[in-house]
Amino acid sequence: MDDRFNTIAGWTLFGGIVALGLSTLSSHYFEADKHHRPETMGYAIAGVEAEGGGAAKPLPLANLLAQGDVAKGEKIFAKCKACHTIDQGAANGIGPNLWGIVGDNKAEGRGGYAFSDALKAVGGKWTFDDLNKWLTSPKAFADGTKMTFAGISDPQDRADVILYLNSMGSNEPLPAPEAIPAAGDESGGEKAVAVVGDPAKGEKVFAKCRSCHTIDKGGANGIGPNLYGVPGEQIANSADRGGFAFSDALKAHSGDKWTEANLDKWLTSPKSFADGTKMTFAGLPKEQDRADVIAYLNSQGGSLTLGGGDAAPAADAEKK
Ligand code: HEC
Ligand code: HEC
Repeated sequence: MDDRFNTIAGWTLFGGIVALGLSTLSSHYFEADKHHRPETMGYAIAGVEAEGGGAAKPLPLANLLAQGDVAKGEKIFAKCKACHTIDQGAANGIGPNLWGIVGDNKAEGRGGYAFSDALKAVGGKWTFDDLNKWLTSPKAFADGTKMTFAGISDPQDRADVILYLNSMGSNEPLPAPEAIPAAGDESGGEKAVAVVGDPAKGEKVFAKCRSCHTIDKGGANGIGPNLYGVPGEQIANSADRGGFAFSDALKAHSGDKWTEANLDKWLTSPKSFADGTKMTFAGLPKEQDRADVIAYLNSQGGSLTLGGGDAAPAADAEKK
């Protein structure tokens, strides 16, 4: 069975590579892509992203965190377990226990763990950025560290494991991702909700939400409230959400409803929508992903008429 799976997976991968190769080849051969940019731009402007190039520029950490996967991070953490425990109150090993490490002071406390002078000298808190650098190469970050671990080279793997660390006793708010316009969207994505969502695709996007939310009718609250029927409902209505204890930040919006436009804003960046929210999820930078997941939410007991007309429901909410 396993073998067969591997064979199928192998051929699927091979097919993908061939297809990729062919499309690259043909676009070169036929020069299909007329508005091709020169391979290297004359000069780089600080803060301006190279367009198009795709693979050339890795996504910023905030975006990798936003699209990251806590469950994958937990798997990657297997590499760390040789030296680290992470459960609250667990013993130090070769390395210190890592419960609540994100946002905590570096090389301090941790049940009296004897840190190297190298790491102690770095000082400050473990921000997302510093953890990202540390896990890229502990030695480059703190030359002389006792953590004899080469590092994780894949940026998404690092982001995933950092998300997992954050889920274990920290829950620091994630940085807001940089907006990345949808493919073919030249406007920079600043327009109102105009993209039509696909609930089936949205269900896949919702995998990112499942670590904190159930959505089936009557499902239990987790880190976040059950989301059945939320679209069209009052924001942060604890009585309708099985007594979920919402943050004051989100409750401040409870005079309003979860319209399509509000959901879109919330899912772009929960923190910008309600500064101080308990939803430590960076947001979905892609407009299409948001539209899809909103369509999915709405298909699970929601009562919105979707389609970008955000004016009408908002006006409704105003009247009360
Ligand atoms: C071979 C053992 C080993 C492995 C594997 C390892 N670490 Fe460490 N880790 C250490 C040691 C030892 C220290 C203390 C470093 C020092 O004092 O210089 C440390 C320190 C840390 C710290 C700093 C803790 C603090 O209180 O400041 C973090 C964060 C960390 N490790 C995360 C990880 C993660 C995540 C992984 C897996 C991707 C990992 N480590 C893999 C041994 C290891
Ligand atoms: C890390 C955990 C976490 C993840 C991941 C997460 N959420 Fe949340 N969510 C929360 C928490 C906690 C709240 C309550 C926020 C508050 O009170 O400030 C919340 C609140 C909400 C609400 C408001 C519910 C209401 O009744 O007002 C919606 C809608 C929502 N989340 C949708 C999503 C969607 C869609 C995703 C995935 C794209 C997602 N969340 C991912 C934790 C999470």
